[in-house]
Amino acid sequence: MKAAIFNNYEGPIEISDVSIPKLTANSVIIDVHAASLNPIDNILRAGYIKDLMPLTFPHVMGYDVSGIITAVGDDVIGFKVGEAVFARAHQEDAGSLASVARVQASALAHKPESINHLEAASIPLAGLTAWQALVDKAGLKEGQRVLIHAGSGGVGTLAIQIAKNIGAFVATTVSARNVDLVTSLGADLVIDYKQQDFKEVVADYDVVFDMSGGEVLQNSFKVLKKGGHLVSIKGQDADDLATKYGVSFDWFFMTPDGIQLTKLADMIANVTLKPVIDSTFSFAEVPKAYAKLDEGHAVGKIVIDMKAS
Ligand SMILES: NC(=O)c1ccc[n+]([C@@H]2O[C@H](COP(=O)([O-])OP(=O)(O)OC[C@H]3O[C@@H](n4cnc5c(N)ncnc54)[C@H](OP(=O)(O)O)[C@@H]3O)[C@@H](O)[C@H]2O)c1
Repeated sequence: MKAAIFNNYEGPIEISDVSIPKLTANSVIIDVHAASLNPIDNILRAGYIKDLMPLTFPHVMGYDVSGIITAVGDDVIGFKVGEAVFARAHQEDAGSLASVARVQASALAHKPESINHLEAASIPLAGLTAWQALVDKAGLKEGQRVLIHAGSGGVGTLAIQIAKNIGAFVATTVSARNVDLVTSLGADLVIDYKQQDFKEVVADYDVVFDMSGGEVLQNSFKVLKKGGHLVSIKGQDADDLATKYGVSFDWFFMTPDGIQLTKLADMIANVTLKPVIDSTFSFAEVPKAYAKLDEGHAVGKIVIDMKAS
């Protein structure tokens, strides 16, 4: 089968022939219709986390997938051949940028009928990250105030909508060109991060969701009320600051979860969560798509139409 691969850290992305993944008892095989890109793919290729997450080569890229089931493992319950599904694949199955992908049933959800495969592929990794940050880590509740940094990105666009589903008051940081977008997603207070200092605009918040680290993370402690929660996905230790400000702090790596993804699918079906797509590329254009992601200015998700020629 064809797949987007690299053969060594920092090596070029190539579309190459690799062997088809083998079906296991607890997995399904998917004819991939669409995939989406995430910054982790570029981070892995650069070798920044090779000690934490060592790769074998050739490494098939991509985690997010939407497609049709073509084979089902003996122990899988609840999924059948021919069904449309989407998922953030587990690390050991990763490789959604391929004509065929294997996904463990525990990561799968049925694709909402109201969206196409391109839209579905944009949801899993970013949506689950936002859900796990806001619900599992921060315990965000109705009526609370949350500051979501980088509201225009892949994670941010979904985090704003999930927080609104919970019934929170949502402030978010974006640049001027994305104010209308995040307002349309439900943001109550929009801060232009290039013109305004967010710590001068908000105070006494219940939750901050950080995805930048560094100064943004450090200053985020200053806008929380005592007992508030700061959740970061940037992989930086800030326990000392949490103690100093009397708040709780978590950073984490998201995990695949088909049950949580089904909750996101339900929100999509109810039209309280909508995919935001920056751009769509063909399979042959995957290297170009990753170069665009690397620029760091995507608005929503970059998706790959695996069936486009
Ligand atoms: N730990 C985990 O499990 C996990 C999971 C998912 C993602 N992440 C990490 O979270 C980060 C975000 O991921 P993503 O997929 O959302 O990335 P992304 O879509 O590439 O984010 C790009 C967006 O971020 C905005 N942005 C950049 N710097 C900003 C700032 N200082 N303030 C406000 N907005 C800013 C950009 O807006 P402008 O163009 O206007 O600058 C752009 O719209 C990445 O670093 C990623 O590696 C971690």
